[in-house]
Amino acid sequence: SVYRATTTAPVNIAVIKYWGKRDTTLNLPTNSSLSVTLSQRSLRTLTTASCSAEYPPADTLNLNGSPQDIQSSKRTLACISNLRALRKALEDADSSLPKLSAHPLRIVSENNFPTAAGLASSAAGFAALVRAVADLYELPQSPKDLSRIARQGSGSACRSLMGGYVAWRTGELADGSDSLAEEVAPASHWPEMRAIVLVVSAEKKDVPSTEGMQTTVATSALFAERAQNVVPERMAAIETAIQNRNFHDFAEITMRDSNTFHATCLDSWPPIFYMNDVSRAAVRLVHDINRAAGRTVCAYTFDAGPNAVIYYEDKDSEVVAGTVKAILGSNTEGWDGAFYERVANVT
Ligand code: DP6
Repeated sequence: SVYRATTTAPVNIAVIKYWGKRDTTLNLPTNSSLSVTLSQRSLRTLTTASCSAEYPPADTLNLNGSPQDIQSSKRTLACISNLRALRKALEDADSSLPKLSAHPLRIVSENNFPTAAGLASSAAGFAALVRAVADLYELPQSPKDLSRIARQGSGSACRSLMGGYVAWRTGELADGSDSLAEEVAPASHWPEMRAIVLVVSAEKKDVPSTEGMQTTVATSALFAERAQNVVPERMAAIETAIQNRNFHDFAEITMRDSNTFHATCLDSWPPIFYMNDVSRAAVRLVHDINRAAGRTVCAYTFDAGPNAVIYYEDKDSEVVAGTVKAILGSNTEGWDGAFYERVANVT
């Protein structure tokens, strides 16, 4: 017989960025981070995990139709072995349970957005993998517990196991057991929040984030300043802004932290550039829109690539989404034309 579970996981976009590891094997971060989970109606990974004693002996993983070499991915192996150990413990405690931990696993995963678009696909991907196998194994662990495992797949993946506003606390322990994601507020707390994802370039990023953050950790003096003296205050302030649904503060902290993160990239040696001319045009446009509105109606943030995510509230969708579409959407120079307008919250 074949046992099977299917699940989806959403993309999350950080407003306080994770950048830098204190442990590269366990993916333990040097600073806490906070993200907004985007709606799964538009951006999500769909993953099916199955297992059977009749499968050929090796675990397999298929991503968007291509078989992956699991053995060369330490991160995937770490997630699977952690999940299998939890299942094994259940089986050892209850001999009536089928011995699924002994069966080869087959994992099939698919994104509903272009993987090459430089969107946070590893976050949704590892979150969905962990959730699917945990469901297959009928593990009792909470999303917070499972975030410890997803983190080892990709740091940002730990924040995709929950909806709404999610903090990843850096933790202090060397084994990473306190480096977990937790919900700061559910999506329903701030239902007006929206996000537009602007795909500036669908090309693969210059420097992968894992490698980029290692260079920054090793070479940037600004990096240590951000991690120690800037992020802790911003984490506290943005959590307060979220609790109070204070868009002005949320937006300013989000934009400033994106800028500080990209400044640490520029301060790395050799310097790392993720934003390009179209990204900078988006930054100027957001500041122009806010100035023209006489208040803060939108905020930009950029991950390790040129694509912009712009947050705004539904009541301002005409002035924000309308203007962004009219100005950037019509400028096809340096623009791949892919354009997503998405609701930031999950239900
Ligand atoms: C800029 O989670 O992709 O998007 O842990 O090495 O897999 P690894 O890195 P990853 O880094 C994401 C960096 C970021 C900021 C963020 O999502 O917080």
